[in-house]
Amino acid sequence: MNLDEALGLIAEIPDFPEPGVLFRDLSPLFAHGPGFAAVTDALAGTVEPDVELLAAVEARGFMLAAAVGYARGLGVVLVRKPGKLPSVAGRVDYALEYGTATLELPENVVRTGARVAVVDDVLATGGTVNAACTLLENAGGVVSGVSVVLELAALDGRAALGGRKVSSLQVV
Ligand code: PRP
Ligand code: HPA
Repeated sequence: MNLDEALGLIAEIPDFPEPGVLFRDLSPLFAHGPGFAAVTDALAGTVEPDVELLAAVEARGFMLAAAVGYARGLGVVLVRKPGKLPSVAGRVDYALEYGTATLELPENVVRTGARVAVVDDVLATGGTVNAACTLLENAGGVVSGVSVVLELAALDGRAALGGRKVSSLQVV
């Protein structure tokens, strides 16, 4: 399956999770073997050659980063929702398109100077990925780039990312 066909599996759901939001549901894509493989290969191609570690944002980022990590021979640091980690390097609160959230980074995983690429499914307002980048940088990592499947241009997530390199497989 080619990348365009794979991206065509993403569904549009009006008024979820609240009225006025057009939710892009990647569930059919994730559940489709050839589609998931096509997206994994394309995302893997956006990760710079000198990257040493991937960072994944809970929850959908986990499966994408795991697949890309396998494809590229890289490990993954899990950026987690609060209360899951026994020992944290840092914690950041941030605003979402709908609501607020908190992310935490595990302690003693990101080496000072490590080049890290952040992987997630959707870049919307950019609050989530920006929080992940802040956590990684505060821990001494160097964010090489951000790779996402889908970028929602109207929400201007790139602006929230302060000039960090963003690679999106599709912009809508
Ligand atoms: C979604 C999505 C991104 C984020 C994008 O995650 O997976 O991580 O929102 O939004 P933003 O750019 O406006 O921050 P969500 O918090 O819904 O969690 P999930 O992966 O656990 O479903
Ligand atoms: N789809 C999936 N995740 C999201 C969306 C969306 O439309 N907006 C913010 N996070």
